[in-house]
Amino acid sequence: MFLIFGDPVSHSKSPLMHNYFFKKEKIDECYGRYHLKEGSKIIEKFKELKIKGANVTVPHKEWAFKLCDEVRGIAKEIGAVNTLVKEGDKIIGYNTDAPGFLEAIKEFDYKSVLIIGAGGTAKALSLVLPQADILNRSANRLEYFKQKNKKTFTWDNIDNFKYDLIINTTSAGLNDDNLPAPEEILNKLFSNAKYAVDVIYGKETPFLALAKKYNLKTKTGLDMLVYQGVLAMEYFLGKELKREEVAKIYFEILKD
Ligand SMILES: NC(=O)c1ccc[n+]([C@@H]2O[C@H](COP(=O)([O-])OP(=O)(O)OC[C@H]3O[C@@H](n4cnc5c(N)ncnc54)[C@H](OP(=O)(O)O)[C@@H]3O)[C@@H](O)[C@H]2O)c1
Repeated sequence: MFLIFGDPVSHSKSPLMHNYFFKKEKIDECYGRYHLKEGSKIIEKFKELKIKGANVTVPHKEWAFKLCDEVRGIAKEIGAVNTLVKEGDKIIGYNTDAPGFLEAIKEFDYKSVLIIGAGGTAKALSLVLPQADILNRSANRLEYFKQKNKKTFTWDNIDNFKYDLIINTTSAGLNDDNLPAPEEILNKLFSNAKYAVDVIYGKETPFLALAKKYNLKTKTGLDMLVYQGVLAMEYFLGKELKREEVAKIYFEILKD
């Protein structure tokens, strides 16, 4: 038995994705959801429910990081865990969000990268895309990136518009029609870029709609969602999977 912990958790697509995979692959397992209000109880609950593994979503990823027995891989740097796996008596924590993003864009041929936004997702992506510069609406959250010697800009002082890949990690466009930066800035960026990726899924954001006018190759957050799931499933089953084939299964159920 596997499940996802979150608050809220009812919107999560993970049960749909992973149960469909188990069914297709004839694996006798199931994946549920657990509405956990207190993140500090996450490991206690994991043990009580006698599950083999879990995913963790907002707002409990930091609790999972702090409380699991051992953190492995990039999760150590990110400071957040989205996948928990029972290994003997221990519960091991991993992060597949940022590696899932990389896997989703692996066919892209890019060198320079601009991340728009400076929240949790931007931090995680900047760790797997160390060459990336950061553009944010306000200056406050850029401090973290400055301390890591990253090149950062606000809308007022951006002076480089030459990037191969532009990533929107803001929530602009999620529940509104906003662009993540003024249109004049995006027009300049898109006229030099090759790729635009949004982490928002379930809709085409104004950011991606504008990128398409410049004939850029685009991807929505669905790809990131799918590949974080594929990588989590590898940890759950304790083996490498044929990632493209598993991703096809997840896309099949999510695109309906
Ligand atoms: N596809 C996936 O698997 C996946 C995984 C994780 C997250 N996500 C998505 O990623 C997005 C961001 O999540 P997060 O946790 O990183 O958010 P967060 O920590 O709350 O950060 C929000 C960022 O967005 C900026 N922002 C918000 N509204 C804006 C607007 N109207 N114009 C310009 N900038 C704006 C904020 O700028 P200020 O600093 O100026 O406020 C901040 O930099 C969400 O939409 C979430 O659904 C998707």
